[in-house]
Amino acid sequence: MFVVRGGQPLRGTVAVSGAKNAALPIMAAALALDGPTTLRNVPELADVTTLGQVLQSLGVQCERLPGGVLTLAVDDDQPCLADYELVRRMRASVCVLGPLLGRRKRACVSLPGGCNIGHRPIDLHLKGLRALGAEITVERGYVFAKADRLIGTEIYLGGSFGSTVTGTCNVMTAACFAEGTTTIAAAACEPEVVDLGHFLNRAGAKISGLGTPVLHIKGVERLHGVEHTVIPDRIEAATLMVASAITGGELRITNVCRPHLAAVTDTLRSIGVSIEGSGTTLRVAGHQPLRPCDITALPYPGIPTDVQAQLMALLTQADGISVVNDKVFPDRFLHIPELCRLGANVRREGASGIIAGGRPLSGACVMASDLRASAALLLAALAADGDSVIRRIYHLDRGYERLERKLNVLGADIHRVTDTPENMPQSLLLSADEECEPTVDSTDSPPPPKFLTRARQHAE
Ligand code: EPU
Repeated sequence: MFVVRGGQPLRGTVAVSGAKNAALPIMAAALALDGPTTLRNVPELADVTTLGQVLQSLGVQCERLPGGVLTLAVDDDQPCLADYELVRRMRASVCVLGPLLGRRKRACVSLPGGCNIGHRPIDLHLKGLRALGAEITVERGYVFAKADRLIGTEIYLGGSFGSTVTGTCNVMTAACFAEGTTTIAAAACEPEVVDLGHFLNRAGAKISGLGTPVLHIKGVERLHGVEHTVIPDRIEAATLMVASAITGGELRITNVCRPHLAAVTDTLRSIGVSIEGSGTTLRVAGHQPLRPCDITALPYPGIPTDVQAQLMALLTQADGISVVNDKVFPDRFLHIPELCRLGANVRREGASGIIAGGRPLSGACVMASDLRASAALLLAALAADGDSVIRRIYHLDRGYERLERKLNVLGADIHRVTDTPENMPQSLLLSADEECEPTVDSTDSPPPPKFLTRARQHAE
């Protein structure tokens, strides 16, 4: 668990690591290459290790070298089974489906199972692969896919919640091996999909339209080994931007791709955060008072759902009513009750969180429910008065490289300790005979009638 002492403005320079969500599908695609792959700027994360294990079980040798380098080389192209025991630990393991089917012509991949951020079907992945000619059945919790040949075709990949990121990755990679040309309409435009496309093109694929909703893919016989540098992690960058804003600090954030952060930058500016950018660097300064804001998480280039929780944490400190909607994962709100434990006034209404902001946060014990929720709780704890404890930080380790070390260099006070009663800060231990007096004023002014009306309108 983390023990966090809040209240320190963060100052200094911090470098963003490589993007988890770009590295994972690229690693998976390496199993379809005839020749070694060298990846640079690969973050050291639990998810990268887990996918390395999945790939090893599929005959790919993975070796991590110093300086963010990962090499991958296929030494056995026969295995086709991605087992439940590995896949259940990380949904992104499903990214091996397209590369396996494309290159090895068959795949048996476990369905990933439940997820704390909401229902996450893979029907669109399967629809796209079937359209290419694969025979697919789902039995005993596994997807069985086979195709002696894949044939290029026109595929519409949009769903009720927009495009699918890893679904586009799977279908695009399989289509590289299809005869003729494939057109994918309603493809995801996320920079991570574009990075995978660049990686595949460098390996000999013929993909055009990357970054737009319409992709054209001319099939090829083989893809060859390649070297590639993974793009910077826009979600980590956004998390650091919010860290500066919520603590009233000033950070210079390096190794960013500023165009990937356009929606986050615009939103933070409208909240009152000052942001200047040049080249691959951003300077972000938090000023009080912050302004409330209504935001909606959307597919790229909108505000990423992966930053929704962190922005909500920030809006708890903006004086007034904010509304946060998530159109990508409408159930991704498990952080709300935990933010409330830190003293925030947030309530959920359907696919929205309604924040009555401006109340100071105060330290408490909270529980992380998923990766981005854990980042949001850490940010809130940095802004809170007193000590906080964040449990289940293994979620954070899945997707942020050494985040607490990076933040501590900037002035944060975060300790990683084992979850035992002795490690609990004194200030959070209440004894049964303690006087039941709050240390902070917790009186809520009742929300004005306008608040509810407006919130309900937004929820609809
Ligand atoms: N969806 C379907 N059917 C499908 C696939 C998706 O209905 O076959 C729905 C989902 O339920 C969701 C929406 O479409 O409502 C978007 O899901 P998408 O498939 O795009 O998500 P994903 O590919 O499973 C990736 C990231 C997530 C990120 C989402 C959205 C990786 C490894 N994961 O997931 O990242 O939130 O795109 O941008 O790339 C994270 O890093 O914390 C994380 C959850």
